[in-house]
Amino acid sequence: MNTVDDCFIIELDKHHSDRKGNLSVVREFVDIPFSIRRAYYLYDIPGGEARGSHAHKQLEQLIIAASGSFTVTLDDSMKKRSFFLNRPYQALYVCPGIWRDLGDFSSGSVCLVLASERYDETDYLRDYGDFLSYKKSGQ
Ligand code: TYD
Repeated sequence: MNTVDDCFIIELDKHHSDRKGNLSVVREFVDIPFSIRRAYYLYDIPGGEARGSHAHKQLEQLIIAASGSFTVTLDDSMKKRSFFLNRPYQALYVCPGIWRDLGDFSSGSVCLVLASERYDETDYLRDYGDFLSYKKSGQ
């Protein structure tokens, strides 16, 4: 069974250029353990708003606070872990089978998500009771 302890922060390379800012790179199978099929980003989120509240059966994801900050709370049905993301060079790897709640968005924040699969609604567990049953079945 995948647990929240299988999720972790990845420190991405930060290329600093004097007076020209920073640049970070994400390479599949070098910096992260999956190949990237899709990228999407959340923006214009009202300050303090919450998103997420679902789990995925197969999908692996990397969550980055590309701008601003927010908190990601992960839940494997037995244990929860919260991660405060506020650095564009820190990425949270989320393995399959983990419930996630995103909250406390700072206004103007951008949440960048790199995902291992195309969008597939059948991969979602959107009901917390269904998620608990899924985890009980050993997933
Ligand atoms: P949803 O997953 O519900 O967002 P969140 O859980 O962060 O609140 O997605 C919101 C809407 O966007 C929903 O109608 C599905 C659509 N969507 C896509 O069409 N493709 C995608 O890759 C994603 C992530 C969402």
